[in-house]
Amino acid sequence: MFSKKCPGLQRIGILEQPNILYLTCHYFNVPDVYLVKDLTQQEVQAITEALNPLVADFFALYVKTKNFHWHLAGSHFRDYHLLFDEQADQIFDSIDILAERVRRVGGTTIRSISHISELQTIEDDNNDFVPPGEMVKRLMEDNAHIARLQREAHEVCEKNRDVATASQLEILIDEAERRKWFLFEIVQGQKNTD
Ligand SMILES: [Fe+2]
Repeated sequence: MFSKKCPGLQRIGILEQPNILYLTCHYFNVPDVYLVKDLTQQEVQAITEALNPLVADFFALYVKTKNFHWHLAGSHFRDYHLLFDEQADQIFDSIDILAERVRRVGGTTIRSISHISELQTIEDDNNDFVPPGEMVKRLMEDNAHIARLQREAHEVCEKNRDVATASQLEILIDEAERRKWFLFEIVQGQKNTD
């Protein structure tokens, strides 16, 4: 029996199997075993819609953390400058992990800066000057926000049988909580953020 879901597949004559969707091969009109998925189209859509805003938020948070790394001034310059850089590196690595998970399950992900701004929920920071204590506080709140979103995305992945992304998210949630924890403990010092 030929697939009724994909006209391209009828042309190239790939057999349909239960619960297996060939989501993108008709664009290329070639059989490609690597495109075979065991998730349904609905599951792929739910996972993609949960992950892409997160990818956009990681981009936004990466730029904001680098922004603060570059524009920092104050008595704890060295500590915060290095901490922000370390956190930015970790945030940057999260982007690729999640974007590639979207591709692996058969979805499409971020394509441009305008696509990021469409999906991001973390606000850009264009202030001319931000006091160091305020930088730490804003990044702490943003990391708490991204940890919450990741937890929600984890739930979506579990509900839609994507255990591999759920497992990646568990690591990334721990990283976000570690960043938040470092920033939170600095905020406790109050005056040492001047
Ligand atoms: Fe740097």
